[in-house]
Amino acid sequence: MVRSARDDDADAIEVVLIEAFEADDRPAALVRALRASPAHLPELELVAERGGVVVGHVVLSRVHVVDATRARHPVLALSPLSVRVAVQRTGVGGALVLEALSRADASGEPLVTVEGHPSYYPRFGFGLARELGVTMALPNWAPPEAAMARLRPRTRHWPQGRLEYPAAFETVLEEEQLP
Ligand SMILES: CC(C)(COP(=O)(O)OP(=O)(O)OC[C@H]1O[C@@H](n2cnc3c(N)ncnc32)[C@H](O)[C@@H]1OP(=O)(O)O)[C@@H](O)C(=O)NCCC(=O)NCCS
Repeated sequence: MVRSARDDDADAIEVVLIEAFEADDRPAALVRALRASPAHLPELELVAERGGVVVGHVVLSRVHVVDATRARHPVLALSPLSVRVAVQRTGVGGALVLEALSRADASGEPLVTVEGHPSYYPRFGFGLARELGVTMALPNWAPPEAAMARLRPRTRHWPQGRLEYPAAFETVLEEEQLP
């Protein structure tokens, strides 16, 4: 079952994040920072439950595309996505991503970006961000194909330019990538 995250899920979500990211605490710090920031959209933070236990988590948050005239356009970023190790590869991550995208589409959001595994996200409609005219700075370790984006179905016009992350992302991005 996938549902909106509640305030009292915070500890369980932290367990999922720490386990999925193998004790790297930066994704958990990102989620805490997002929740305390205007970039957080509570209806787009979701958990997956199995047997009443939170086993997966995803959050879409507010970021902006800055175009050639320096105008800022709101779009969404999917990050992080995490699933408890024992239930990975059983469809939990997919269910979370599909529900998050469905909610984003229903809200009229034109574009969702992700920095992630190039072999995982295309199944949800993500493609190379640069082919949609969106450039994303990536950490040094990420391959260029990790910069992906997905349009809301039947979208004909969308913002193009450089992706600007809010300050909450400073836990996971290098300083020069921040606005
Ligand atoms: C990546 C992750 C969220 C996928 O969730 P999941 O519930 O295991 O995924 P699903 O069951 O919906 O989909 C399974 C498919 O995802 C793909 N997949 C799973 N983990 C993957 C990984 N690390 N890299 C690339 N593809 C992966 C595989 O194609 C798999 O299909 P297969 O079992 O037929 O090979 C989960 O493995 C996870 O939490 N990993 C650690 C944290 C992480 O890397 N998060 C992503 C940050 S972008």
